[in-house]
Amino acid sequence: MRIVLMGPPGAGKGTQAERLVEKFGMKHLSSGDIFRAEKASGSALGEKLSKIMADGDLVPDDIVVEIMAKAIASADSDAGLMLDGFPRTVAQAKALDEMLAKHSTPLDAVVIITADDDAIMERITGRRICPSTGRLYHVKYMPPKVEGIDDETGETLMQREDDREQVVRGRLEAYKKQTEPVIAYYSDGGKVKTICVNGMQSPDEVSAAMIEQLQACRGESVGQCR
Ligand code: AP5
Repeated sequence: MRIVLMGPPGAGKGTQAERLVEKFGMKHLSSGDIFRAEKASGSALGEKLSKIMADGDLVPDDIVVEIMAKAIASADSDAGLMLDGFPRTVAQAKALDEMLAKHSTPLDAVVIITADDDAIMERITGRRICPSTGRLYHVKYMPPKVEGIDDETGETLMQREDDREQVVRGRLEAYKKQTEPVIAYYSDGGKVKTICVNGMQSPDEVSAAMIEQLQACRGESVGQCR
């Protein structure tokens, strides 16, 4: 299965990606994680990305497409693929179409997780992350067993630097202006199956709804799940 996972910042893409990988076994590529790894490498490109991401702006399309094309080429396999956070503009979506057409591996579905702005703000400002594994927590909704400590590695949990309230507002604005048109790009004319999941439920309920719809969509023609 080849899917794109979309939704505003904090909607729960990373949380659900972990569960979908467990269920379907596809390869998970998160553009945000790839860029954070580049930042951590200390490269010149990483420094450039660091500044853009800290401000909550989108990384320019040419840089994103170059990095993601390499990642997709080396990740794509029979296990399937889940793209999380890419594409985020219509130009990126068109570039992805070209990449996948080259390998005759079209998308099976685009999954969109929805959530309202107030919930997003609460989720993002309460998010905590294990620095070495990236395991996700929320201080209220998915707390670790011991406050501030990763359940498995025992490391002190951290906050992302773009998870400050002011930056989150900018990220939300960027999503509405630049990423929402990508949904129309896919759904208009029935180009790809689009599955909309209500993210304002518990993580378990969101996963159950998503898995049910993905299973129902497998093998069906475009339009049946829309
Ligand atoms: P990226 O890392 O992709 O961030 P994002 O899309 O803003 O999404 P998040 O990772 O913040 O949230 P999420 O939806 O994964 O939510 P999560 O599961 O963690 O991008 C970061 C930056 O990189 C961008 O701003 C941009 O600068 C750059 N970038 C990346 N891709 C790009 C591209 N293609 N083009 C240009 N620039 C790009 O959940 C959040 C919290 O909520 C967690 O604490 C979780 O525990 C909790 N939670 C999750 N689900 C629930 C639930 N159902 N109920 C209660 N709490 C929940």
